[in-house]
Amino acid sequence: MSLVAFLDNADRAVSVPARPDPRAARFHRSMPGYEPTAVAEAPSAAAGLGLSRLLVKLESERFGLPSFKILGASWATCRALSLRAGLEPAATFDELRAIIPRLDGLTLVAATDGNHGRAVARIARLLDLDARILIPEHSARARIDAIAGEGATVDVVPGSYDDAVRLSSALASDDHLVISDTSWPGYELVPGWVADGYATIFEELAEQLGGEPPPLVAIQIGVGALASAAVRALASPGRVIVGVEPADAACALQAVREGRPVLVAGPHRSIMAGLNCGLASRVALPDMAAGIAAFCTIDDRSADEAVRLLLLDNLVCGETGASGVAGLLALRERRPERTWESLGLDDARPAALAICTEAPTDPKSFAPISDGESGTRRCSCAMRVRGSRRRVPFLISSPTSVADPLLRHLVADQAPRRGAGVRARGAVVELPPSRGCRRSGLPGARCAWPHPRGLLSTRPA
Ligand SMILES: Cc1ncc(COP(=O)(O)O)c(C=O)c1O
Repeated sequence: MSLVAFLDNADRAVSVPARPDPRAARFHRSMPGYEPTAVAEAPSAAAGLGLSRLLVKLESERFGLPSFKILGASWATCRALSLRAGLEPAATFDELRAIIPRLDGLTLVAATDGNHGRAVARIARLLDLDARILIPEHSARARIDAIAGEGATVDVVPGSYDDAVRLSSALASDDHLVISDTSWPGYELVPGWVADGYATIFEELAEQLGGEPPPLVAIQIGVGALASAAVRALASPGRVIVGVEPADAACALQAVREGRPVLVAGPHRSIMAGLNCGLASRVALPDMAAGIAAFCTIDDRSADEAVRLLLLDNLVCGETGASGVAGLLALRERRPERTWESLGLDDARPAALAICTEAPTDPKSFAPISDGESGTRRCSCAMRVRGSRRRVPFLISSPTSVADPLLRHLVADQAPRRGAGVRARGAVVELPPSRGCRRSGLPGARCAWPHPRGLLSTRPA
């Protein structure tokens, strides 16, 4: 089962919250190495999901880091340091740098499940400040090393991400400034600024699209700061924003259900690092409750599948980066017919937007997923054989059920339209080999279809 829980929030009062602070985007543009991230089309994934179009904003690289998090960390640091210095928010990175000498040996502190801590460590390095980053013990070695590689002191702390947050809050002092992306009673300004920083993603998007963003948006949720920024930028009565969380760290779903942040007991061990949070951010909650139409929680298999689905369009996203798409995939699997209409959209094949929030950051966990070694799956595909549709059972021995909707599309829908090279002989369906893979093995049916790394193969069930 890949969709584990679903909370329909359709009765929400769709109030459009305050619009984001435009100063954040101006500040980001002044930072060394600023470039807007691209928006990619994912036609194969869209077809597999029954969408007319899937746009993916690629946050797999921002300022040389593998996620969007530096947008929040940099703007929140700018606001917090300016406040400490008793000044108006620095308008540019150079202005911010100029106030550092007034601040006398400050250390930036953050708890992290990976990316936020690395981003805070990078900002500290750019500003010649020290950084101390607290990370839970189950974190991947590669993520810990990446933070240390920014020159930060890394404390690997016993317990969960939420324990790390608690310990980091206790370090606040005159010379230790906590830059947290989540909030707790009495600590709300900085996490609000973090969400303001993420608004740059949506500001760029508005310029890049030059028109209305798609009516369906999938957004992955850890503590909810990114979701809050998404709601502020995109919520409108005609748009459905779907929040996606790992099943064992569904803190936003629980918080919206109960009307307050509640600690979801661990262990939170999803491969969707960054989303392993047990407590939603209290400052993000009102935006999520007002603007997110449905929350779904997914297991790791959906994240695996989404990684591979996006690879079909040559988009290399990490497990967390692909998790918005994983939510769409899980919804599609749960209700293959009228999937999107059941969410309140009036279009059976709407266009959708997802954000690839992270590149692969843990090669040890990513390689088996992208190489399709994480399981063999029994499934079937509909094939048109001599004009009639049949379901053919088979095992997909590498990329799993990603291929299921995709195969259905490629074999049943696209093949007849592809013309030359597509043949149906008996139960044999042949597609012209395109980018690489032409492995078969299903007696009576041969399939070859585009995959950048030639990983798809079938054999009989
Ligand atoms: C890659 C990635 N995507 C999404 C998120 C979710 O962001 P938020 O915690 O603001 O909900 C995180 C959080 O760390 C992350 O690292």
